[in-house]
Amino acid sequence: MTGENKPAENGRRSFDGSNTRMTNIAVFASHGGSDLQAIIDGCEAGEIPARVCVVISNNSTSRALERARTAKIPAFHVSEAKYPGASDEKIFEILREHEAGIVFLAGYLKKMPENVLREYAGRIFNIHPSLLPKFGGKGMFGINVHAAVLAAGETETGITIHRVTSEYDTGEILAQKKVPVLPGDTPQDLAARVLEQEHIFLVEFLSGCVTVK
Ligand code: GRF
Repeated sequence: MTGENKPAENGRRSFDGSNTRMTNIAVFASHGGSDLQAIIDGCEAGEIPARVCVVISNNSTSRALERARTAKIPAFHVSEAKYPGASDEKIFEILREHEAGIVFLAGYLKKMPENVLREYAGRIFNIHPSLLPKFGGKGMFGINVHAAVLAAGETETGITIHRVTSEYDTGEILAQKKVPVLPGDTPQDLAARVLEQEHIFLVEFLSGCVTVK
């Protein structure tokens, strides 16, 4: 039996559907990268049976790129401005070169290229800071999400991890966690409370503690 076909020691299937023990996770992020950091830390602590093989950002000044470099993870800035007419192909090439098994969007504000959606069908995940299908879709990112939750008078919000499709925040919902909205919350208060929970939830999800439906 080759190493590649060896069943996972813990009997768990990798997220890429193979029986290998380690999964290579490619993480995409546009800004702060605190979710990326939670994934890196979870892998380093052995809580997530995987490694972050590459980080890609559309934003050259993203803190996510810095975090990746600090952790000695290959990090790439890929945008249309940098690779006119060729950014989709560049992303695809980087994923292939780094043998990505799954793709995780952790605060990535661009759509996935069609070629990546095809190649990684069912293996691309996104984390969104609301209980989808509520407060998702175009324009629903960052503080906008939390402001909309408060404007709607919700008493609870939360986190959703879902598979990625060609439309924003659609795709099969795999896991959700509720987070309370407290009286007097500002959008910033809510954003901070949800983000703190995201860091825990991401590790639970990727470690397999949260059942993937
Ligand atoms: C998170 O709230 C995530 O749900 C959303 O973008 C934010 C990323 O935060 N998709 P950070 O850049 O990882 O700190």
